[in-house]
Amino acid sequence: MDLSGFPNLHLLTDIFPNQVKGLMTIIRDRETDRDRFIFYADRLIRLLVERSLEFLPVAPESVVTPTDATYAGARFLGQICAVSVLRAGESMEMAVRDVCGKVRLGKILIQRDEETAEPHLYYSKLPPDISDRWVLLLDPMLATGGSIIKAIEIIKEKGVPEERIIFVNLVSALFGLNRVFSRFPQIRIVTAEVDPELNDRCYIVPGLGDFGDRYFGTER
Ligand code: PRP
Ligand code: URA
Repeated sequence: MDLSGFPNLHLLTDIFPNQVKGLMTIIRDRETDRDRFIFYADRLIRLLVERSLEFLPVAPESVVTPTDATYAGARFLGQICAVSVLRAGESMEMAVRDVCGKVRLGKILIQRDEETAEPHLYYSKLPPDISDRWVLLLDPMLATGGSIIKAIEIIKEKGVPEERIIFVNLVSALFGLNRVFSRFPQIRIVTAEVDPELNDRCYIVPGLGDFGDRYFGTER
Protein backbone atom coordinates (compact mmCIF):
# COMPACT_ATOMS: atom_id res chain seq x y z
CA MET A 1 0.00 0.00 0.00
CA ASP A 2 1.45 3.37 -0.96
CA LEU A 3 1.26 5.67 2.08
CA SER A 4 3.87 8.16 0.88
CA GLY A 5 1.19 10.82 0.42
CA PHE A 6 0.73 11.00 4.22
CA PRO A 7 3.84 12.69 5.67
CA ASN A 8 2.19 13.02 9.10
CA LEU A 9 1.30 9.33 9.38
CA HIS A 10 3.57 7.35 11.70
CA LEU A 11 3.40 3.57 11.63
CA LEU A 12 4.35 1.42 14.59
CA THR A 13 5.35 -1.30 12.13
CA ASP A 14 8.26 0.91 11.02
CA ILE A 15 9.78 0.50 14.48
CA PHE A 16 8.55 -2.89 15.71
CA PRO A 17 7.57 -4.86 12.59
CA ASN A 18 7.64 -8.33 14.14
CA GLN A 19 6.09 -7.38 17.48
CA VAL A 20 3.25 -5.49 15.83
CA LYS A 21 2.53 -8.33 13.39
CA GLY A 22 2.56 -10.90 16.20
CA LEU A 23 0.30 -8.90 18.51
CA MET A 24 -2.02 -7.91 15.68
CA THR A 25 -2.36 -11.53 14.61
CA ILE A 26 -3.71 -12.35 18.06
CA ILE A 27 -6.19 -9.49 18.34
CA ARG A 28 -7.41 -9.77 14.74
CA ASP A 29 -8.14 -13.50 15.14
CA ARG A 30 -11.89 -13.95 15.66
CA GLU A 31 -11.16 -16.97 17.90
CA THR A 32 -9.28 -14.83 20.44
CA ASP A 33 -11.23 -14.64 23.69
CA ARG A 34 -11.85 -11.41 25.59
CA ASP A 35 -9.07 -11.82 28.19
CA ARG A 36 -6.44 -12.33 25.53
CA PHE A 37 -7.91 -9.57 23.37
CA ILE A 38 -7.61 -7.08 26.23
CA PHE A 39 -4.11 -8.21 27.19
CA TYR A 40 -2.64 -7.95 23.70
CA ALA A 41 -4.59 -4.82 22.70
CA ASP A 42 -3.23 -3.18 25.87
CA ARG A 43 0.32 -4.10 24.87
CA LEU A 44 -0.12 -2.49 21.46
CA ILE A 45 -1.77 0.58 22.94
CA ARG A 46 1.14 1.06 25.35
CA LEU A 47 3.57 0.98 22.42
CA LEU A 48 1.42 3.48 20.50
CA VAL A 49 1.33 5.88 23.43
CA GLU A 50 5.11 5.68 23.88
CA ARG A 51 5.58 6.32 20.15
CA SER A 52 3.24 9.31 20.29
CA LEU A 53 5.15 10.97 23.13
CA GLU A 54 8.15 11.08 20.82
CA PHE A 55 6.51 14.04 19.03
CA LEU A 56 6.47 16.31 22.07
CA PRO A 57 9.07 19.07 22.03
CA VAL A 58 12.16 18.72 24.22
CA ALA A 59 14.89 21.04 25.46
CA PRO A 60 18.47 20.09 26.34
CA GLU A 61 19.07 19.31 30.03
CA SER A 62 22.27 18.03 31.59
CA VAL A 63 22.57 15.99 34.77
CA VAL A 64 25.54 14.74 36.76
CA THR A 65 25.61 10.94 37.11
CA PRO A 66 26.91 8.98 40.15
CA THR A 67 30.27 8.72 38.33
CA ASP A 68 30.61 12.53 38.51
CA ALA A 69 30.26 12.70 34.75
CA THR A 70 27.84 14.93 32.91
CA TYR A 71 25.09 13.38 30.86
CA ALA A 72 23.75 15.64 28.09
CA GLY A 73 20.06 14.79 28.25
CA ALA A 74 16.70 16.32 27.49
CA ARG A 75 13.47 17.24 29.23
CA PHE A 76 9.99 17.48 27.83
CA LEU A 77 8.62 20.92 27.12
CA GLY A 78 4.96 21.73 26.89
CA GLN A 79 1.97 20.44 28.76
CA ILE A 80 -0.15 17.61 27.49
CA CYS A 81 -3.64 16.31 27.98
CA ALA A 82 -5.47 13.30 26.58
CA VAL A 83 -8.95 13.23 25.03
CA SER A 84 -10.65 9.88 24.56
CA VAL A 85 -13.43 9.26 22.07
CA LEU A 86 -15.87 7.09 23.99
CA ARG A 87 -16.51 4.36 24.23
CA ALA A 88 -13.60 2.52 22.61
CA GLY A 89 -11.09 5.32 23.31
CA GLU A 90 -11.53 4.69 27.02
CA SER A 91 -9.50 1.50 26.56
CA MET A 92 -6.45 3.71 25.84
CA GLU A 93 -6.69 5.92 28.91
CA MET A 94 -4.83 3.59 31.28
CA ALA A 95 -1.75 3.46 29.05
CA VAL A 96 -1.62 7.27 29.04
CA ARG A 97 -2.07 7.42 32.82
CA ASP A 98 0.66 4.81 33.27
CA VAL A 99 3.22 6.94 31.48
CA CYS A 100 1.94 10.45 32.19
CA GLY A 101 0.84 10.20 35.82
CA LYS A 102 -1.80 12.79 36.67
CA VAL A 103 -2.50 13.71 33.04
CA ARG A 104 -5.68 15.73 32.45
CA LEU A 105 -8.28 13.70 30.58
CA GLY A 106 -11.09 15.01 28.41
CA LYS A 107 -13.89 12.85 27.05
CA ILE A 108 -16.01 13.06 23.93
CA LEU A 109 -18.84 10.58 23.54
CA ILE A 110 -19.50 9.90 19.87
CA GLN A 111 -21.37 6.83 18.63
CA ARG A 112 -21.80 5.68 15.05
CA ASP A 113 -25.35 4.95 13.96
CA GLU A 114 -25.42 1.17 13.47
CA GLU A 115 -27.34 1.46 10.18
CA THR A 116 -25.81 4.50 8.51
CA ALA A 117 -22.37 4.70 10.24
CA GLU A 118 -23.04 8.45 10.73
CA PRO A 119 -21.42 9.75 13.93
CA HIS A 120 -23.59 11.28 16.66
CA LEU A 121 -22.17 13.51 19.35
CA TYR A 122 -23.70 12.96 22.82
CA TYR A 123 -21.31 14.58 25.27
CA SER A 124 -18.05 16.42 25.51
CA LYS A 125 -16.01 17.65 28.49
CA LEU A 126 -12.52 18.99 27.91
CA PRO A 127 -9.85 20.54 30.18
CA PRO A 128 -10.50 24.33 30.33
CA ASP A 129 -6.87 25.12 29.43
CA ILE A 130 -6.78 22.67 26.51
CA SER A 131 -5.74 25.44 24.08
CA ASP A 132 -2.37 25.68 25.89
CA ARG A 133 -1.71 21.95 25.71
CA TRP A 134 -0.63 19.23 23.35
CA VAL A 135 -3.51 16.81 22.85
CA LEU A 136 -3.23 13.03 22.63
CA LEU A 137 -6.51 12.10 20.95
CA LEU A 138 -7.42 8.48 21.69
CA ASP A 139 -9.56 6.20 19.53
CA PRO A 140 -8.44 2.72 18.43
CA MET A 141 -10.46 2.56 15.19
CA LEU A 142 -10.52 4.88 12.17
CA ALA A 143 -13.01 3.63 9.58
CA THR A 144 -14.92 6.28 7.59
CA GLY A 145 -13.28 9.02 9.65
CA GLY A 146 -16.64 10.54 10.62
CA SER A 147 -16.19 10.14 14.39
CA ILE A 148 -12.65 11.45 14.63
CA ILE A 149 -13.36 14.38 12.31
CA LYS A 150 -16.16 15.43 14.68
CA ALA A 151 -13.82 15.05 17.66
CA ILE A 152 -11.07 17.10 15.99
CA GLU A 153 -13.56 19.85 15.10
CA ILE A 154 -14.57 20.11 18.77
CA ILE A 155 -10.94 20.28 19.94
CA LYS A 156 -10.02 22.87 17.29
CA GLU A 157 -13.03 24.98 18.27
CA LYS A 158 -11.48 25.18 21.77
CA GLY A 159 -8.40 26.82 20.24
CA VAL A 160 -5.97 23.90 19.89
CA PRO A 161 -3.92 24.26 16.70
CA GLU A 162 -4.01 21.20 14.44
CA GLU A 163 -0.26 20.63 14.70
CA ARG A 164 -0.59 20.12 18.46
CA ILE A 165 -3.05 17.23 18.05
CA ILE A 166 -1.62 13.70 17.95
CA PHE A 167 -4.23 11.09 17.09
CA VAL A 168 -3.28 7.77 18.73
CA ASN A 169 -4.95 4.95 16.83
CA LEU A 170 -4.65 1.18 16.50
CA VAL A 171 -6.10 0.39 13.05
CA SER A 172 -6.77 2.92 10.29
CA ALA A 173 -8.67 2.33 7.07
CA LEU A 174 -7.18 4.02 4.03
CA PHE A 175 -10.52 5.69 3.31
CA GLY A 176 -10.60 7.34 6.76
CA LEU A 177 -6.96 8.42 6.55
CA ASN A 178 -7.64 10.18 3.26
CA ARG A 179 -10.62 11.97 4.72
CA VAL A 180 -8.90 13.08 7.92
CA PHE A 181 -5.70 14.29 6.26
CA SER A 182 -7.51 16.13 3.48
CA ARG A 183 -9.49 18.00 6.13
CA PHE A 184 -6.68 18.43 8.71
CA PRO A 185 -3.31 18.17 6.94
CA GLN A 186 -1.26 19.27 9.97
CA ILE A 187 -2.52 16.65 12.40
CA ARG A 188 -0.27 13.70 13.27
CA ILE A 189 -1.63 10.18 13.25
CA VAL A 190 0.23 7.38 15.03
CA THR A 191 -1.20 3.98 14.16
CA ALA A 192 -0.16 0.33 14.27
CA GLU A 193 -1.43 -0.75 10.83
CA VAL A 194 -3.39 0.59 7.85
CA ASP A 195 -6.07 -1.61 6.29
CA PRO A 196 -7.15 -1.30 2.65
CA GLU A 197 -10.95 -1.49 2.74
CA LEU A 198 -14.30 -0.90 4.38
CA ASN A 199 -17.15 -3.37 4.00
CA ASP A 200 -20.77 -2.50 3.21
CA ARG A 201 -21.40 -1.81 6.93
CA CYS A 202 -18.39 0.53 7.04
CA TYR A 203 -16.34 -1.91 9.13
CA ILE A 204 -12.59 -2.03 8.50
CA VAL A 205 -11.42 -5.01 6.38
CA PRO A 206 -9.58 -7.16 7.36
CA GLY A 207 -9.96 -5.18 10.62
CA LEU A 208 -10.68 -6.83 13.92
CA GLY A 209 -14.45 -6.43 14.22
CA ASP A 210 -15.99 -4.04 16.71
CA PHE A 211 -13.17 -3.01 19.03
CA GLY A 212 -15.44 -1.63 21.77
CA ASP A 213 -17.61 -4.75 21.83
CA ARG A 214 -14.61 -7.09 22.00
CA TYR A 215 -12.76 -5.03 24.64
CA PHE A 216 -15.74 -4.35 26.88
CA GLY A 217 -17.47 -7.72 26.32
CA THR A 218 -20.69 -6.46 24.72
CA GLU A 219 -20.77 -8.57 21.53
CA ARG A 220 -24.20 -9.90 20.64
C1 PRP B 1 -16.06 3.09 16.72
C2 PRP B 1 -14.63 3.53 16.94
C3 PRP B 1 -14.60 4.92 16.35
C4 PRP B 1 -15.58 4.80 15.21
C5 PRP B 1 -14.81 4.64 13.93
O1 PRP B 1 -16.88 3.57 17.71
O2 PRP B 1 -14.20 3.49 18.26
O3 PRP B 1 -15.01 5.91 17.27
O4 PRP B 1 -16.37 3.64 15.44
O5 PRP B 1 -15.67 4.67 12.85
P1 PRP B 1 -15.74 5.90 11.84
O6 PRP B 1 -14.33 6.22 11.51
O7 PRP B 1 -16.50 5.32 10.68
O8 PRP B 1 -16.46 7.01 12.49
P2 PRP B 1 -18.46 3.21 17.80
O9 PRP B 1 -19.26 4.37 17.36
O10 PRP B 1 -18.71 1.89 17.15
O11 PRP B 1 -18.68 3.10 19.34
P3 PRP B 1 -17.93 2.27 20.49
O12 PRP B 1 -16.75 3.11 20.85
O13 PRP B 1 -18.95 2.20 21.55
O14 PRP B 1 -17.54 0.93 19.94
N1 URA C 1 -15.53 0.56 14.70
C1 URA C 1 -14.96 -0.61 15.02
O1 URA C 1 -14.85 -0.94 16.22
N2 URA C 1 -14.53 -1.41 14.05
C2 URA C 1 -14.60 -1.09 12.75
O2 URA C 1 -14.16 -1.87 11.88
C3 URA C 1 -15.21 0.14 12.40
C4 URA C 1 -15.66 0.96 13.41
